[in-house]
Amino acid sequence: MHHIILNCETDFDGWRTAARALVLNEVPPDKVTWVVRNHGHELSDGAQAPLEPPQGTFNVPAKFVELAKTAILHRDAERFALLYRLLWRLRRDHDLLDIAHDPDVARIHAMAKAVHHEAQRMRTSIRLREIGREHKSHFVAWFEPQHHVVELTAPFFASRFADMPWSILTPDVCAHWDGYAVSITPGISNAEMPAGNRLEELWQHHYAAIFNPARLAAKKARNLPAAPTIKLESESADGLGSATTAHAATEPQMPEPAMIRRAADSLSVLREEAADCRACHLYKHATQTVFGQGPQSAQVVLVGEQPGDKEDLAGKPFVGPAGLMLDRALIEAGIDRKKVYITNAVKHFKFVPRGKIRLHQKPNTPEIKACRQWYERELASIKPDLVVAMGATAAQCVFNKLTPINKNRGRLIDLDEGVKALVTVHPSYLLRLPDQDAKEREYQRFVEDLKLAAELLRKRAQAAA
Ligand code: URA
Repeated sequence: MHHIILNCETDFDGWRTAARALVLNEVPPDKVTWVVRNHGHELSDGAQAPLEPPQGTFNVPAKFVELAKTAILHRDAERFALLYRLLWRLRRDHDLLDIAHDPDVARIHAMAKAVHHEAQRMRTSIRLREIGREHKSHFVAWFEPQHHVVELTAPFFASRFADMPWSILTPDVCAHWDGYAVSITPGISNAEMPAGNRLEELWQHHYAAIFNPARLAAKKARNLPAAPTIKLESESADGLGSATTAHAATEPQMPEPAMIRRAADSLSVLREEAADCRACHLYKHATQTVFGQGPQSAQVVLVGEQPGDKEDLAGKPFVGPAGLMLDRALIEAGIDRKKVYITNAVKHFKFVPRGKIRLHQKPNTPEIKACRQWYERELASIKPDLVVAMGATAAQCVFNKLTPINKNRGRLIDLDEGVKALVTVHPSYLLRLPDQDAKEREYQRFVEDLKLAAELLRKRAQAAA
């Protein structure tokens, strides 16, 4: 018998690691038990055969991985075993998930649906109350989730209430936002659950002292990615990642908020989340969020300023006049647009109406900052070799500070983690130049800058060959 101990109720990575090792060791589902650490019944009742380090890979449908990530948040204690049974069966029947009347398939779908409903209930029913108005204003809510959806929904609250510190306290875990990052701490015990109007008391007792903004800022500098949201690991070739050991990591620490830091979301997940972004006011008048476009595997990310009128209506970046200019220059530089990821520093169209026309307005620093979370998450998701910042707004976003174009233009600059940046002008700048000679000259410089990107890509491709 194999007793797998997961770190917490939402430990998808632990389940995935263990499940992969079990399958590759040919351990059938009826020889495995699953428990969550600290539930009091995790001691094994006998010796268990050690698992061999897993060799090889196997494929599972991507939709199983998505389903499993959601269903594992269900409160049913059987979910880990059910998921493993499905995984075991999927190896032999790749199309199993299409058999809607199969009892395991029906059950996992029902669980995922219940989790989605509960996440939606949490998003719509939570009302944050301001506590401690004077020096340490903080917004707090109490919520009792039916499933383990707090970590799933916290990014939504981080986007929606980006400019105020908040905490959502629940019996499972508590989520906190300090303006920079979401942190997760253990839940409130039954004995301490707030009755009636005792939320403030509970807050003062548990957290008021911890939420010292200066300390949180220092902690952020030491530990955290600037991205404000919790991320789930992206898929690997077999959809289950590589395994090191079947037993997973450490427990959350108290009393400091235990920061959750996981690998990145896929672009499709990000796009879906960004569609509801309310991190600044620009969503109010824009038609839609214009998220980046391009392959997950892109080696180059091009960053513009913000969608224009055409992009706002189409929901795609660089499809208007600046986009045509960019397309032409990319072709001349030898870069295939379909292979690069194109995005903007700000993802909603900012404009003032003038009669029937919507006049473009340059985004300001708070708007650029509010939107930067998406750029950061796009970058973490794609992990490109090179980021090209086109224009001053893009450069401010990429370097997270005001960055003059001319001083930095035309050379490769190191960002974190081996990523390079290249600064150049925005294609709209070329469109606006009144003088034809200057236009041609500047266009050629722009192409030369893009050729640097093409060259870097060629070198990386050669090195990888
Ligand atoms: N300008 C930009 O910066 N981005 C677009 O998507 C279109 C025009």
